[in-house]
Amino acid sequence: MSSEFVQLEVADSVATIRLDRPKAMNAISLQVQAELRAVAAEVSERSDVRAVVLWGGEKVFAAGNDVKEMADMSYTDMVDHVEGVQGAVTAIARIPKPVVAAVNGYALGGGCELAMAADVRFAAENAVLGQPEVLLGIIPGAGGTQRLPRLVGPSKAKDLLFTGRFVKADEALAIGLVDRVLPAADVYPEALAWAARFVNAAPYALRAIKESVDRGLEADLETGLQIERQHFAAAFATEDSTTGMRSFIESGPGKATFE
Ligand code: HXC
Repeated sequence: MSSEFVQLEVADSVATIRLDRPKAMNAISLQVQAELRAVAAEVSERSDVRAVVLWGGEKVFAAGNDVKEMADMSYTDMVDHVEGVQGAVTAIARIPKPVVAAVNGYALGGGCELAMAADVRFAAENAVLGQPEVLLGIIPGAGGTQRLPRLVGPSKAKDLLFTGRFVKADEALAIGLVDRVLPAADVYPEALAWAARFVNAAPYALRAIKESVDRGLEADLETGLQIERQHFAAAFATEDSTTGMRSFIESGPGKATFE
């Protein structure tokens, strides 16, 4: 599928997924959602991609779902639409590799929800995040009522969701909505550098860690521990575990590289 608004570039085994709809502040239209689902499937499958940066370019991450497109939708339209947009965000969340969102400018509504689907978030000093749906008389539909409280806790999440207020980068860092705040020009390079750390890392272990954390957060502790046990035992069936432990014994810690 050719992409108009979502660009994929792969360099040195790191993929950059870049939203590219500048005239509409990268608003996430139906087409953008379809392109996101396709690109998430591609980077998930490609063995030459070891980690992913999710970016909106230097000016804006994404100002949300396309309000102009949504405005005339009926209840029945929305039943399908909300599955499509949740599907796009979930597809990003399920990429079985480390994913960092690099947030320059606004990440609002569906844009904030998309950023929350990444494993970590780096934000520019001028970044502005929020879930302003309530101001449109609607609610977040791409995971905001679920992922935001998991990241920042229920009361801070409700404050943001009830008020729809915008959060600047320093507050986002303080509440745990983003993980690092950087000068605007450094956000993408630092995100690339973070992703590059995993190029020679053990891919099965990374995938198993991500799945154990994400699935475990949805489960009670005993179920989460069971998920961990299964992945832990399964790791011993991979060549990576042989390579990693042999390298430790022969050369010391942290020297192994993995295919
Ligand atoms: C469609 C959008 C848009 C959006 C901006 N634009 N956000 N178009 N959907 N979400 C368009 C504007 O209409 C305008 O187009 C152009 O982008 C530039 O925007 P301006 O408003 O002129 O820029 P500025 O004054 O700098 O304000 C930026 C902004 C503001 C603060 C980001 O645009 C804004 O508040 N946008 C909406 C944010 C929002 O409510 N997001 C949540 C959406 S609901 P023209 O053609 O006039 O130049 C959502 C639900 C998710 O995400 C769940 C779905 C199931």
